[in-house]
Amino acid sequence: MSIGLPRGVQDILPDEIPFWHLIENIARSLFEKYNYEEIRTPIFEFTELFVKGTGETTDIVMKEMYTFQDKKGRSLTLRPEGTPGVIRAYLMNKIYTTKPVWKVYYIGPMFRYERPQSGRYRQFHQLGVEVLGRKDPYIDFEVISLAVEILKSLKLENLEIEINSLGCLKCRPAYREALKNYFYQYKDLLSPIDQERLERNPLRILDSKDEKIIPLKENAPQPLDFLCNDCKDHFDKVLRYLQEASLNFKISPKLVRGLDYYTRTVFEITTTSLGAQNAVVGGGRYDNLVETYGGPSTPGLGFALGMERLILLIKQQDKIKIEKPSLFFLAIENEKYIKKAVEISKILRINHRVEIGSPNEPLRTQLKWADKLNSDYVIFINQMIEKDILRIKNFKTGEEKEIRIENLKEL
Ligand code: HAM
Repeated sequence: MSIGLPRGVQDILPDEIPFWHLIENIARSLFEKYNYEEIRTPIFEFTELFVKGTGETTDIVMKEMYTFQDKKGRSLTLRPEGTPGVIRAYLMNKIYTTKPVWKVYYIGPMFRYERPQSGRYRQFHQLGVEVLGRKDPYIDFEVISLAVEILKSLKLENLEIEINSLGCLKCRPAYREALKNYFYQYKDLLSPIDQERLERNPLRILDSKDEKIIPLKENAPQPLDFLCNDCKDHFDKVLRYLQEASLNFKISPKLVRGLDYYTRTVFEITTTSLGAQNAVVGGGRYDNLVETYGGPSTPGLGFALGMERLILLIKQQDKIKIEKPSLFFLAIENEKYIKKAVEISKILRINHRVEIGSPNEPLRTQLKWADKLNSDYVIFINQMIEKDILRIKNFKTGEEKEIRIENLKEL
């Protein structure tokens, strides 16, 4: 095969799928219990949606988007994240006219042109939630604890919640100014991209990966020192609810997150096993995003969880055993027994997996298949079936016995 795969994308082969199903099932069930409804938005949207929402000065928009022109010359982009599409759907469908609070979840592929490495891909999958219409700090706590509950249901350990507050439109300008003044002293050290950010959005310098900037970030002003009373009160309450629920967290005064829309609470969930750079969950509040798109003033918040990273963790921590139902292989000795084999398979498929062999192949070949398929049992369908009797062999132990058809249900 000479056609390979582009870098950073991968097949999810059948052996891996049980992990995906497990995560999706656990998450769906929890989302429904917290009263979220599923939404499926398109995989590509107008580029402008992400430029406006995710933010012009973010790494995502500046260098990571898969943007292309369609045949009519319109600029489209493969979604790099789920939040902007959800807000667009909220506005286009005027959900705000009928629902004071809208809670939705999504599961699906996202695309970012990043340098691929373990836990970082160009096509990856997120499972996320968005809540529109609630501004109270309780909901920040609920969103964070829902993310933690998903991870704990998957038996993950060593979780760390990192949390910070970025303030609001009222207090952010003073912080922005302080940050700008601080980095201005080091202007000559900044890369051209960071110099541009200094003018347009100095907050973004804080997630610069430039080696020279890392020590400078240490002494940079912190958003927590600039919070107005309302933002401070909001943040204190979120922290108090987390404490009361015994959820361990760490205030990370330098956490700003790589997207422009955040206000107030931002958080990430990391584990020691993934390495510092790789959060498994990231989220936060975005009280001005709906307005940015021309909608009515609507507070919002949410999170997204990276499914590939989560699977890496589940495998590393090895606390979850994926079990499939037993596989029965029906070895058919004569074509005239097909009808019986189908009847038997119906009974067995109530609780088990069944593979039916080919009567056109010798028994020896069928047994080889059964072995290669990793069957748990082989049932021989031969002339004994005329007396309603079957011979069954446990493929793992080699033990053989006879069983009457009416007793198959008990297997
Ligand atoms: P994000 O932090 O950009 O936030 O992504 C969330 C999660 O997606 C990350 O913590 C990570 O697990 C996963 N992820 C991101 N990029 C990659 C990649 N290249 N390869 C593998 N996994 C990746 C958002 O996307 C926001 N929309 C989250 C949000 C929702 N905020 C509010 N609502």
